[in-house]
This record gives sequence, structure tokens and C-alpha cells, in this order.
Amino acid sequence: MPCVVAVVGATGIVGREMLKTLADQSFPADRVVALASARSAGTTVKHGNEELTVQAAVGERFDGVDIALFSAGASASRELAPIAASRGAVVIDNSSAWRMDPEVPLVVPEVNPEAAADRPKGIIANPNCSTIQLVVALKPIHDMAKLKHVVVSTYQAASGKGRAAVQELLAQQRQLAAGKELSWSVFPGPLAQNLVMDWKPGTDGYSEEELKLVHETRKILGDAEIGVSPTCVRVPVVTGHSESLHVQCHEPISAAAVLRALSNAPGVVVQDEGYVPGKEPQPLACAGTDPVFVGRIRDDLAVPGAVNLWVVADNLRKGAALNAVQIAKLLVGA
Ligand SMILES: NC(=O)c1ccc[n+]([C@@H]2O[C@H](COP(=O)([O-])OP(=O)(O)OC[C@H]3O[C@@H](n4cnc5c(N)ncnc54)[C@H](OP(=O)(O)O)[C@@H]3O)[C@@H](O)[C@H]2O)c1
Repeated sequence: MPCVVAVVGATGIVGREMLKTLADQSFPADRVVALASARSAGTTVKHGNEELTVQAAVGERFDGVDIALFSAGASASRELAPIAASRGAVVIDNSSAWRMDPEVPLVVPEVNPEAAADRPKGIIANPNCSTIQLVVALKPIHDMAKLKHVVVSTYQAASGKGRAAVQELLAQQRQLAAGKELSWSVFPGPLAQNLVMDWKPGTDGYSEEELKLVHETRKILGDAEIGVSPTCVRVPVVTGHSESLHVQCHEPISAAAVLRALSNAPGVVVQDEGYVPGKEPQPLACAGTDPVFVGRIRDDLAVPGAVNLWVVADNLRKGAALNAVQIAKLLVGA
């Protein structure tokens, strides 16, 4: 069923990836409308071979829109998503604004596609980038032996914080090469040749990003009892989030069984030939691709029946744009 699609935040790093993904996936859109803040009105963005003129995202722009892919930050989503929904669009929102609302489904098509059908507010939330790749890898293990406790440490790329963050990392790398002092304003310190924890504080000594991993994982997998122990770290990588997982289930699991389960899992590519230096999934190689790559699947040395893994995906594609477009495809039956 052809339809009209709006991309809100079309000039941003995720919005541009959404436009590219709609074209790459041959999404059956009659028309694609590019919206952003009033600052960008009149500029152009690429969609396949077309140049779209960006318009300011105001209420009447949503008239006639069937699906609105939002990637404009939480405050724009809080204000504009209900307006778009009231004018007849189904909103697929990439921000954190609606994810934990009980009347808004939080959807990863490989994990809980059925949830997208029940959307009383006309809004479907796209999970946080680090949660999406986590649950794609965990779902087959949960189905096999019911997750009990997951320890997750993330290695998150600069592009997860948007266009300005990437520009800052690249500028710092140039400053280093030129022997200049490093400057920063987007991150709370230098990211080049460094690691930082730059998310807003949450509660109990955790960052908001860490708490998203806890709450979103439970909501998507439909199990409020799953224990999640998160640590989120920003690394000087442009694109591609990596995660180290330690997984315990209610029944003992083995590396061999996890490898078998993941080998047949939708959206997963197992890249694991034992420990071969340099052959593990790496963010540079995964950037620009669609799957969630899993490697380093090992029996834990200290905890019998527990397994450790390494999970890498493109945060702008599966972590944001691709997941949103896959949800849109569910809506139109494409
Ligand atoms: N980057 C990731 O990996 C990732 C992953 C998952 C989710 N997200 C979420 O996606 C959203 C966008 O992130 P991003 O990384 O693409 O950021 P970004 O590169 O900074 O882009 C932000 C976009 O939002 C637009 N915008 C800002 N305020 C607006 C308003 N009031 N009305 C309409 N448009 C407005 C900007 O338009 P102008 O150019 O006109 O300012 C720009 O197009 C955020 O909520 C983020 O948390 C990002």
C-alpha cells in the first residue's frame, strides 16, 4: 500500500540515514516529505536520486501524511508527535520521549513485531540504539532458557550523539595531528584518544543511558524480572556501537547452544571462529551495514552455565534509521 512519509529531523545524522534507508529498502512511498526546524527551511537533503526541499515541522505539514518518522530530539517529539498523530499520521519516534509510556509500544521488528499493532496514541517508539542491538542478540537466548541477569558494558560511537558530536571528534583528531590543544563543547572533555561518560545523570549513580538499557530491555522482551547491570562508555569511534555481554539464564546455557540459537536468528550475523585476533566483529567494518554482528561467544570461566559475547552494530542503521523503517514496513505490510 503506497503512502506519504514525513521524516522529521531530516537534516540530522539519523534523519539523513532514514532518507537513505527508505530509498535503499525501496519503501513504497508515494511521496517523502523532509521536515526539520525552521532554521533549515529551504535547504535540501538527498533521498535516493532526489533532492528534497526541507520545510519547517509545523502542524499543517502533517496533513495527508500516513507515516511520520521522527528523529528531532525528545522535546520536538513531545510537542509535535501528538499533533502529527491527531492529523492522521502514525508516528514512529526515535527519541526517548515516549519509550516508557505504557500506551506506546516499543518495537524491534525481529523481537516484538506484534506490539506495533496496539498503539492507542498513534505513536510507536523506536528504542535507544544500544538497546536495539542488545535485544536482537538476547531474544534467541531468552526464548531458549529465559534470561535472568545480563551484565552489559557498551563502547558507543560519537555519532550516537548526533552530527555536532561527530564534527567535534573529527576536529579533535585534526587538532591532535597538528599538535594543537584539544577543544570541546559537545562532550564533557576530549574524546579523541580518550573514553568519556557523557550522558545525563539518571538515578542511583547511573546515567540516563544506562537506565534506558535496563527499562527498555525489560519492556521489549516483556519480562520485568530480567536483571540488567549496565555501564555505558563513549569511545572515539565515529559509527558502530559495541557491547560486551555476560549472560545468565534461569537454566544453564552453553556457548555452543547460544551459537546455534544465534546462527538462525533474524537480523543476526554470527562472526565467530573461536578467538582469532582481529577477526571479531569491529565497528569500522559494521558501519554502513544492517545486521547485528555477534562474536566471541564463550562459556564464562567463573560462572558455570553463563556465557559471554561481543555484539556490534551500526547505531545509525539498525540502532536508529533501519529499525524505524522496518517498523514502517510492518505498518504497510511491505
Ligand atoms: N544518533 C544515533 O545513533 C541515534 C540513535 C537512536 C536515536 N537517536 C535519537 O534521534 C534523535 C536525533 O538524533 P541525531 O543524532 O540525528 O541528532 P542531530 O544530528 O543533532 O539532528 C537533529 C535533527 O533534529 C532537528 N530538530 C531539532 N529541533 C527541532 C524542532 N524543534 N523541530 C523540528 N526539527 C528539529 C534538527 O533540525 P535542524 O538541522 O534544523 O536543527 C536536525 O534535523 C534524538 O532524539 C536522538 O536521541 C539517535
